[in-house]
This record gives sequence, structure tokens and C-alpha cells, in this order.
Amino acid sequence: MANLKGKDMSKARKVEIPETMGGVCAAVYLLLMILFMPFLFYSDIKMAAAEQAFDLEKDHVETGRILHRFPLGKVIIILGNYDDLFDIRWRHKVLIPAVASMPMLAVYYLTYGVTHVVVPVQLEAYLGTMVDLGWLYYTYMAAVAIFCPNSINILAGINGIEVSQSIVIAFLLLINDLVSLYKTPRAPHPHPATDLHLFSIYLLLPFIGASFALWWHNWYPAKVFVGDTYCYFAGMLFAIVGILGHFSKTLLLLLIPQIANFIYSTPQLFRLIPCPRHRLPRFNARTGLLEPSMTAWQQRPSKPVALFLNSMARVPLLPLLKITRDADGVIAETSNLTILNIWLVWFGPKREDRLAVELITLQVVTGLLGLFVRHQLALLVFRQDNRL
Ligand code: UD1
Ligand code: MG
Repeated sequence: MANLKGKDMSKARKVEIPETMGGVCAAVYLLLMILFMPFLFYSDIKMAAAEQAFDLEKDHVETGRILHRFPLGKVIIILGNYDDLFDIRWRHKVLIPAVASMPMLAVYYLTYGVTHVVVPVQLEAYLGTMVDLGWLYYTYMAAVAIFCPNSINILAGINGIEVSQSIVIAFLLLINDLVSLYKTPRAPHPHPATDLHLFSIYLLLPFIGASFALWWHNWYPAKVFVGDTYCYFAGMLFAIVGILGHFSKTLLLLLIPQIANFIYSTPQLFRLIPCPRHRLPRFNARTGLLEPSMTAWQQRPSKPVALFLNSMARVPLLPLLKITRDADGVIAETSNLTILNIWLVWFGPKREDRLAVELITLQVVTGLLGLFVRHQLALLVFRQDNRL
């Protein structure tokens, strides 16, 4: 069983600090949600009482309106905790969110169940205006639910980065909700999208509050680590909000750094290139700065792999890899494939907090760009704005 503390590897004095503080954050979140329930359901409860009094049909009280607002986050927090407690192997770890996404997919099935997608204008001639993806759509949703928590967990390793990126994503989702609510007509015919965006806001606001408290302690120099519990909790919350709110495509537009980091990581994740337990940047005790971390090759890379590595290192202006060679020119070490490391290759060694600020700025800029694409350019591809 793992200890609930971790060594801060990027400090001159490698002190141990508490890990899994995300668990506290998640617990506070759940408490807030529970306290919020009576307010959330105030009108439903009143309606139910009135209907009982008049002995009316109760069917719409018992439909998805209540079910789809249930705080599913609980499941993922428990599973994320398993990981921090037992140090599960990476291979098994990626699938934790798959298990946790089951209740969400069930809720989707029960409350909405639509598996049709709108076809881009350019393809309408071949496919018609709508295509029913059937079970493929459930596969897609499960993939989003697996991707979100894991992609946050692997864009990690410097103080503050996990919480900061999650807070930025939550704010971007909030802006998306507000813009969509603004565009949606209100009375006399409220659009169903209104409810979904309100649902999203209800889930995000307490998350932002609880995360800021964690951020305070986790920012450089960190006094606590967030643990995988937080990464899974945050990522799963985004997946739930995006999927049940029917804006998962928009959600993906807000995760551009995570998608880039995941794609860039694939050669190591799938073991084409050796993958050490930790890929975080290397702390240089002499300068006090972070440098790209390198992985040593135990044996000479095969011809095709060497060709692949060399061509990555030779991309003009922005090389995708740093290589060190032995006296014979054979590849000895290659930099670990994370956007944190490649950022340091491109822009030189940096202090830990500086690197975090720059990457969070990247998250903000790409996210705002994503929102612009969603709200200004989507009509180039889709016939109408579905307000989701
Ligand atoms: C993921 C990454 C791993 C990275 C690690 C860092 C992949 C496949 N996995 O693994 O490469 O090294 O996150 O979080 O990309 N730590 C620090 N400073 C920090 C944050 C973490 O030194 O600011 C160290 C501490 O020793 C801490 C440990 O990282 O105990 C936590 O790592 P953990 O979350 O268990 O790693 P993974 O999520 O498995
Ligand atoms: Mg982690």
C-alpha cells in the first residue's frame, strides 16, 4: 500500500508533503452538492407536493429531470482513491474511468438516449442531415469519459498544474454555458438547452470554489499534492457535464493542451519508446531551474525507431525531441514526450512556477480560441446553431 505522502522532486530539499489532498477537495464538493440539493429541487419538490395534494399524474416528477442531476462524481472519487491508496499499475489505471462512466452512460440512456448526430453541411450530400450512430455513440461517450481524467493526470508533475488547468477548464465551460444561455430564448417557450446549461453551472460553481482552496496549498512551492483522486474527480466531472449537457464536442475544444499532450505522449504510453515511472521535468539543483527530463536507452534503438526519433529531432524551428548521443553517435537518451518537456526544449530552462504560468496561459488562450471556433465558426460546418 502506498503512503499518502509524496516527495517534491523539483526542490533543492526533497521534503515529503501530504498527497491525495484532492480527496478533501472532492469531499467538500460532495457536501456542497448535498446541501444544494433542496434548492436545486425546490420547484420539483413543490410541484410533487402540489400534485399529491391534487392527486394528479406524477409521471414527469419521476422522469429524468431528477435523475440526471444526481452527483455522479462520488463513484469516481472512490475509484480515484483506490489508485492513490494502492498505487495501481498504469495499464489498469486508464480503465478506472471506464468503470466509473457506466452510471453516467446509464443515466444518458434513461434520460435522453439520443444517438443521432448532426452531419456537417459538406457531407450532407452523402449522409443526409442526421446519422444514427447507435452503440458507436456510447463508445464515443465512454472514450471521452476515459480520456478526460487520464489526460489531466498525465499533464502533471509541476506544482499547481493539475488544479490550475482544471480551474481554467471549469471557467471556460462556465463561459460557454453563459454564452449559450444568453443566446437561448427564454419565456414563453424555454429551450431544453436552458436546463442543461443550468445543470452544468450548478455542478461547476462548487467545483471551482473547492478547487481554489486546494490551489492555494498546491501552488508553488506546494504544501500538498493533489493526488490522482483530484485529477480523476476533475476530469470525470468535465466528462459528465459535457456528455449529459450534450456539448462533448465543445468540451474537446477546451482541452487542446491535454489532447496535444496525449497525442505527443502516445509513443511512450504504447511503449514504442521506453516510459519511466515519472516523466516530469528534471530539477537542476545548481541553477534551481527545470530542464527537460531524459530517458536513457538500455539498448540501441532499432533502425525504424532511430529513423523516427531522428526525424522528430530534426523538425525545423520547433524540434519535437531532444537527443543525446554517445561517442559513436548512437542515440543514448531522448527527452520524455510531454508538452512540459518540449516547452523547456523550445524556450530553455525555467523556474517551476514560471513554467506553470506559461502552460496555464496556453490553456487560457487555446480555450478562448476553442470557444470562438464553437460560437463564431461552427456555422461554417453545421447548418444551425443547436445552442448546446
Ligand atoms: C503521471 C505521469 C508521470 C508524472 C506524474 C507526476 C504519465 C504517463 N504519467 O503519473 O509521468 O511524473 O504524473 O505527477 O505521464 N510530483 C512532484 N511535483 C509535483 C507533482 C507531483 O514532484 O508538482 C511527484 C511527487 O513525487 C508525487 C508524484 O509526483 O508523489 C505523484 O505522481 P502520481 O500522480 O502518482 O503519478 P501518475 O499520475 O501515475
Ligand atoms: Mg497523477
